[in-house]
Amino acid sequence: MTREHLIKPLLSAHYPKIDYGKGVFLYDEHGKAYLDASSGAVTAGIGHGVQEVIDAMLAQAQKVSFVYRSQFTSEPAEQLAKRLSDMAPGHDYWSFFVNSGSEATETAMKIAIQYWQEQGRLGKNKVISRRMSYHGITLGALSMSGHVTRRRRFVPLLEELPVVAAPYCYRCPLSAPSCGQACADDLETNIKRIGAEHIAAFIAEPIIGAAGGAVVPPEGYYERIKAICEKYEILFIADEVMTGIARTGAMFGMEHWSVEPDLIALGKGLSAGYTPIAATLVKDRIMEPILAGSQIVMSGHTFSANPQSAATALAVLDYIDAGGLVGAAEEKGRYLRQALERIASTCAIIGDVRGKGLLLGLEFVADRASKRVFPVVLSVTTRIVERAQSKGLLIYPAAGGVNGEGDAVIIAPPLVITTEEMDLLASLLEETIVEVMGEVMDG
Ligand SMILES: Cc1ncc(COP(=O)(O)O)c(C=O)c1O
Repeated sequence: MTREHLIKPLLSAHYPKIDYGKGVFLYDEHGKAYLDASSGAVTAGIGHGVQEVIDAMLAQAQKVSFVYRSQFTSEPAEQLAKRLSDMAPGHDYWSFFVNSGSEATETAMKIAIQYWQEQGRLGKNKVISRRMSYHGITLGALSMSGHVTRRRRFVPLLEELPVVAAPYCYRCPLSAPSCGQACADDLETNIKRIGAEHIAAFIAEPIIGAAGGAVVPPEGYYERIKAICEKYEILFIADEVMTGIARTGAMFGMEHWSVEPDLIALGKGLSAGYTPIAATLVKDRIMEPILAGSQIVMSGHTFSANPQSAATALAVLDYIDAGGLVGAAEEKGRYLRQALERIASTCAIIGDVRGKGLLLGLEFVADRASKRVFPVVLSVTTRIVERAQSKGLLIYPAAGGVNGEGDAVIIAPPLVITTEEMDLLASLLEETIVEVMGEVMDG
């Protein structure tokens, strides 16, 4: 047997080799087709092999692919920053470009801390996050994350940062709207306990992704969160790495709640996977003390703001605008959700169907009435994801249940998916779930 050299996620697993992609399909070296119902990791928002993006990438490569941000700027980077500022909720943002969602949230954390430092408030340096959350894999981003399995190995190295309740209505003992936003009030309770003088920011994913399986908060939640942040002088960071760039039927997830964040992290769909790029957007108001003070944001990476990635992201945004993909995500999301609800009506292991636009989630339970989770040893999420893949359907594993010990998946196909492709997706998914249900219910 020849030895391997590439470190893959599961070292004992076999990964098919993909040859090429077109639209919502990926094709492996043997010609097997995979319907990409998760856009990879909720990334390939406009589908694979889009010629307009390929043309723009080539055109930029023929000019220049890399300039170092400490020496030069470039037209694509300047244009992308301006475009994001015009697009983002409330407008008037600066952009700091990085390479991954983890760097984008960690940069947001650093800028939030710097904002207070520049005003002499050195004690305001903790970031509050939610118990059910994922903000990235680097140590700063992981410190802000609640994702139990991704944290476990590194807990001794992580910053002990405060966490509050997540708006996880499915398992909440109180029911919305009569709950009175108890999950939002948990933020205020914790701020009072810790002291606002120690807290720089609160970070949240508008819709909880990997750690929850598309968990949508109750109405009024974010308005209440923003009001609490303002009352206690705490910055609000929206982690839109998964929800941003049209995915939920709005360009930014936070638009569903008309809340303007102070900082926004973007990644994934910004380049739709055509090249690595992510961004931290910073509201003018937050940049003011930095501009009047040290005049330097202490962060940065070699590849930050490189023209190749910026030009690619601009081409992706053009494609989204030209194709009306924000509206498409909303409309197609409604259709796909109905299909998921139909499947749920016959598959007792589906406890909850949730999400917005084309960011949809299913949570699986051993018993619907008690919402009891499956024993971990049954690996229900892995079984479903692997069975689906064997049938040529790609879906994204997520954690569900309290402390991430439950099972959930995310369904998030490229926004260009057709009705026919959604029907195929639904039929492959139903087949998968029926089969796995037979195994785990018997066993
Ligand atoms: C909400 C959210 N934030 C941050 C990240 C980290 O992004 P990356 O994997 O690009 O570092 C992810 C990745 O799944 C995410 O879903």
